[in-house]
Amino acid sequence: MATTGNQTAKIMLFTSCKGGVGKSTVCANLAMTLANMGRRVLMIDCDFGSRCLDLVAGLSDLAVYDIADAVLGRISPEKAVVVDKRNKNLSFVAAPYSFDPSMTLFAFKRTISYYAKSGKYDYVFIDTPGGAGEPLLYAAEAADWAFIITSPTRASVRAADKTAAFLYARGVRDMRLIVNRVAGKKIRQVKENIIRIIDEASVRLIGAVPYDPEIIVAGDEGRLTDSMHSKIVTQAFMNIAKRTEGEQVPLFNGIKKLRELK
Ligand SMILES: Nc1ncnc2c1ncn2[C@@H]1O[C@H](COP(=O)(O)OP(=O)(O)OP(=O)(O)O)[C@@H](O)[C@H]1O
Ligand SMILES: [Mg+2]
Repeated sequence: MATTGNQTAKIMLFTSCKGGVGKSTVCANLAMTLANMGRRVLMIDCDFGSRCLDLVAGLSDLAVYDIADAVLGRISPEKAVVVDKRNKNLSFVAAPYSFDPSMTLFAFKRTISYYAKSGKYDYVFIDTPGGAGEPLLYAAEAADWAFIITSPTRASVRAADKTAAFLYARGVRDMRLIVNRVAGKKIRQVKENIIRIIDEASVRLIGAVPYDPEIIVAGDEGRLTDSMHSKIVTQAFMNIAKRTEGEQVPLFNGIKKLRELK
């Protein structure tokens, strides 16, 4: 695990060994929300092979270099960083097209730690692919914290539990659950369902993201919370951002009604 000091950014994973649960979506939107609150966030795409954080975050045209270039010393770590034009508090490092086996765990951790200790960031967010392969192993070894993302389906909740066990075995002790795509007629029923999910996944909850078709459209267009119209989505990310910062806000603070799954 990375060490933390006063000037050191928190290194946080967005993970689940299940694909398609919303890891990249949650990572990019929480990063933008924190950036809008004045926090400096560096997002690193570690989904080697099927990178897409650049697309979700609307940064695909800007990235020339990637994290492997920095880790393997082909360029300086700074050169791999792209600063978001919408908000200069948000920065990004792309993933390479494939995992390069010459990239050692030691060199990877050293590079992530370099970014965290540069004094330029409050948070280093790492997006990981689904599956418990090399990228998750590397990311887990570099991380202080993990956000485990699940949707309300039983298969992804089981995957969350498995992910937590994997991370725990690699020394990650601070884990929080984010339940994505929550939907339903009555908030009370949704809350009861979330309690069941926490029980099954055995991970403490930090937040819930509503199901909203705008997230799908925005993800395709590279738009994040700063330009979304859905109040329930922007409010949910604001709640998670505040809870990440240690503020005590209710889970559905400012959210009165969720969408129903059709
Ligand atoms: N809360 C939500 N409401 C509606 N759609 C969502 C929500 N969260 C994510 N999605 C959609 O689900 C799909 C998968 O999301 P995303 O790519 O973020 O998942 P992932 O876990 O990163 O996937 P992968 O394992 O392939 O990296 C995307 O089309 C995204 O727009
Ligand atoms: Mg992803």
